Amino acid sequence: MNKKTIRDIKVAGKKVFVRVDYNVPMDKSGQITDDTRIRATLPTLKYLLEQEAAIILASHLGRPKGSPVAEFSLAPIGRKLAALIGQDVVFAPECVGPVAQSMAKALQPGQILLLENLRFHKEEEKNDSAFAGELASLADVAVNDAFGVSHRAHASVEGITRFVPAVAGFLMEKEIAFVGGAVANAARPFVAIIGGAKVTDKIGVIENLLQKVDTLIIGGGMANTFIAASGYGTGKSLVEADKLDLARSLIGQAKERGVNLLLPADVVIADRFAADAAHKVVAINAISEDWMALDIGPASQQAFAQALVGAKTVVWNGPMGVFEMDAFAKGTEAVAKAVADSGAISIVGGGDSIAALEKTGLASKISHISTGGGASLEYLEGKVLPGIAALADKE
Ligand code: 3PG
Repeated sequence: MNKKTIRDIKVAGKKVFVRVDYNVPMDKSGQITDDTRIRATLPTLKYLLEQEAAIILASHLGRPKGSPVAEFSLAPIGRKLAALIGQDVVFAPECVGPVAQSMAKALQPGQILLLENLRFHKEEEKNDSAFAGELASLADVAVNDAFGVSHRAHASVEGITRFVPAVAGFLMEKEIAFVGGAVANAARPFVAIIGGAKVTDKIGVIENLLQKVDTLIIGGGMANTFIAASGYGTGKSLVEADKLDLARSLIGQAKERGVNLLLPADVVIADRFAADAAHKVVAINAISEDWMALDIGPASQQAFAQALVGAKTVVWNGPMGVFEMDAFAKGTEAVAKAVADSGAISIVGGGDSIAALEKTGLASKISHISTGGGASLEYLEGKVLPGIAALADKE
């Protein structure tokens, strides 16, 4: 990696501003339902504490639109972090202003201060320079461990790097190595499995990966558009009529490039979109007119798993069916197992894919589970992520 990390700079005795992505899901009672993103930053925080740095943590939570909203306060996240890291986390009720300034000033080496939600100020998302300068004035150096928001040119992500030296934390380093590495120089054979409801959400990813992979597997709702584009009837399945030409062009591009493009050979069709719908497995040339495809079938599961045999790199993003309904979760679970068993460097992103890995108990067999949603997709599209680009380069 050509970006400096916290190992490359002196942090001992310094005030270190650490941008994290603690945008975690919470239930109605304010309980954190998945603390993965908090746990993922612990290696960086522990290292900084060992080095006797004073940590000033900053994050966004939700989309409060530039003013304080109680339900988006980071206070409960501070309590969770304190429990996970086993030490006090001081909470600053503001991320800028005199209170934040004096709390940051009083902070001692080995202590953690968590600032209130950055997005309570509209200047954060506007990448306002004065605001970025105020954040920077709290610290001596900045660390970005917020891969999940590195596709946003926001003040705490990008603007701040113009005021203080900025380097990557360990989570960011890992995301760059795995997700960036897959895009830049994957070990081959390289297989990508792309799923999810809509082609629209993944066009950029498919177009970019078509130039990199040996095999591209397409499943999930978006496969219906490719099935329709190949001339098959799709009944009442979700098909993006305005993307049929694009799907044909992508099929053509795969052929020209010698990429093995795999679409489902069979699907699970249902008589309606419901967990208790009547359902059956049919070949893709036999989708009944009044039914809809909601998962890939067993022959597809087998073919997709077979395509992973011998792969050296596997990227998987998006479910193979309506994963939240048990009757249509089998395809996604089978792919989770195939990716986990592949022996390849495996990189997984997207909420449903990760949930499938966790449900099947296979998460620990994956080389890298990305903490970024939109960020990992944009990275796979080959885009430059402003939060990464702004970090100091290695000499
Ligand atoms: C995410 O959850 O994908 C990141 O935290 C970014 O959030 P945003 O889409 O609200 O910028």
